[in-house]
Amino acid sequence: MKTLTTRTLASLVLCSLAATCFGNPIIVNESDPEVDKEVDTRFGPGADASYFARNGMVTSSSNQATFAGLEILRAGGNAFDAAAAVQMVLCVTEPYASGLGGGLFAMGYDADTGKIFALDAREESPKAFHAGRFQDDDGKLIRFRDRITGGNAVGVPGTLAAFIKLQAEHGTMSLAEVCQPAIRIARDGFRVPETFAANLEHHWDRLSQFPESKRLFSRPDGSQLQAGDLHQNPELADTLALIAEKGAAVFYHGEIAHDIVKAVQTDPIRPGVITLEDMARYRPVERAPVEVTFEDYSVYGMPMPSSGGATLGLMLNLLQAHGLQDLQWGNVATFSLLLNIQNLAFADRNHYMADADFVDVPVTGLLAPSYAAERAQLLDTEKAIPTPIKPGVPVGAVSPPLAHNLQHESKSTTHFSVVDRERNMVSITSTLEQHFGSGVAVPGRGFLLNNQLTDFNSSLHDKDGQLAANRPTPGLLPRRTALGSAANQLGGKRPRSSMSPTIVLKEGEPYLVIGSPGGSRIIGVVFNALLNALIFDFDLQAAINAPRIIGRNGRPEMESPLYRNQALRTALKERGFKMVDAQAAGAVQAIRVNADGWLEGAADPRREGLALGY
Ligand code: DON
Repeated sequence: MKTLTTRTLASLVLCSLAATCFGNPIIVNESDPEVDKEVDTRFGPGADASYFARNGMVTSSSNQATFAGLEILRAGGNAFDAAAAVQMVLCVTEPYASGLGGGLFAMGYDADTGKIFALDAREESPKAFHAGRFQDDDGKLIRFRDRITGGNAVGVPGTLAAFIKLQAEHGTMSLAEVCQPAIRIARDGFRVPETFAANLEHHWDRLSQFPESKRLFSRPDGSQLQAGDLHQNPELADTLALIAEKGAAVFYHGEIAHDIVKAVQTDPIRPGVITLEDMARYRPVERAPVEVTFEDYSVYGMPMPSSGGATLGLMLNLLQAHGLQDLQWGNVATFSLLLNIQNLAFADRNHYMADADFVDVPVTGLLAPSYAAERAQLLDTEKAIPTPIKPGVPVGAVSPPLAHNLQHESKSTTHFSVVDRERNMVSITSTLEQHFGSGVAVPGRGFLLNNQLTDFNSSLHDKDGQLAANRPTPGLLPRRTALGSAANQLGGKRPRSSMSPTIVLKEGEPYLVIGSPGGSRIIGVVFNALLNALIFDFDLQAAINAPRIIGRNGRPEMESPLYRNQALRTALKERGFKMVDAQAAGAVQAIRVNADGWLEGAADPRREGLALGY
């Protein structure tokens, strides 16, 4: 498959479809007979080609965050130090997508030990939170758009705890050092980018319900910030400086904890139930990564409570069980197969996956090659498997089966990837859930709180009266899937996620870090980009830029450059795929270690972003 001809063909299709969307001309390189008139696959308003560097690389969806990561790498910090600096700057420059008030999943490769780890810093359900909290006084389910707003939706934040742990266990610098770029930018300010301004415009009415949040993002005359305005956040600078000085205690036990609890409990829109005990109890949890073998690669993904790693693993297993022969990017049969694979995997994902500390999730059974072989019998390259596909019955499935439900998940969140000189690798997806999270700001602290609890199913049961795996469950249980001492801790349930930070080794050596935002589309987005890089042999930037085709066991979607191709749409329709225009899905940030030792970095042009190295 990795022939020039296949690559060239794929590039041709890719360019003719994709260049129309992103508006750049197709460039035919006629001067070099060696490349067989290969079409240049570089296009797009962001980066138009991969960035190559020798020593270290950072890629994120904020220029300032990438600069900060690079600054730390150049100053001698490792990938974990740089990742912390990137996250702290993202708190300032993308306050709608992630932050101190949110949570994250981190995958890391430690070059010293050669080990890959998965850190779950998902927001946690307060002890007193239960399914009834999504209902109004009359017992009626509160509409989704209302559920996401206000203190009731806020889970105990995990982002800061994650970086305290990563710094302590893998970093070489102090938390104070890695916070410096963010403190500087929050104090001095930065020019509001288009994406920031557009998101603010879209959410202004919602945010305006909260005077403190409105104030944070207002011009002096009270109107919302516009692209190009200088945005300073001195309160966040003070918060970060306080954390840099006093560490995690001030956030989880001290004065910031008090402010968070007060903001949540006294929120006039929809007060929540987080207590000081919930804050004090919060721990990020190390868990065993999900691992699947795919061709020459070992692919490591995030375990429960993210459905990302297991679902991606199942997709790769299904593809492998079907066989990779005759695959060609852009070809109708290939797209049909990839949609059927994604739909099949999502049937199981929607049905079984949730926080495995609270419910039995048959991950081993789902990822068994025998299960993939059995489910692959259903695969077809010529026609759609009608959706919704029923889940399979892997070994370990509980009976009677749990109910399935696809949660509504939004277009926010952010991903960043870092690789350093020693080839430590970090892949982190970080979120507040919706843009601007719950809309609740912590007064005087300069940051917003998440709405991650709405990633739980909205009720205990589905329409048929069966229990939902991803139901909100009050109380605390031992962390039965945690590693080390955390296994004995009591904790609250964590809502199911789709976040899929991923690390790939090739023959045991560091090869690729990748991930994306995109709600429940994340898994399909990463699947598309991963296949483009691993089997279609695109340059990394082209692998990211290529328009995506996504199945979630409902109406299948493709991004606009594909959707606007009438012939492709008709061909898929004739096979039973009634495609929906997904517009732009995800924002992938990836770094590959090439065989010659050079690092290849790429940032997704679907958002602002930048890959830089040195
Ligand atoms: O955890 C999740 O899967 C979602 N809450 C993430 C939200 C998201 O990615 C929105 N994206 N664009």
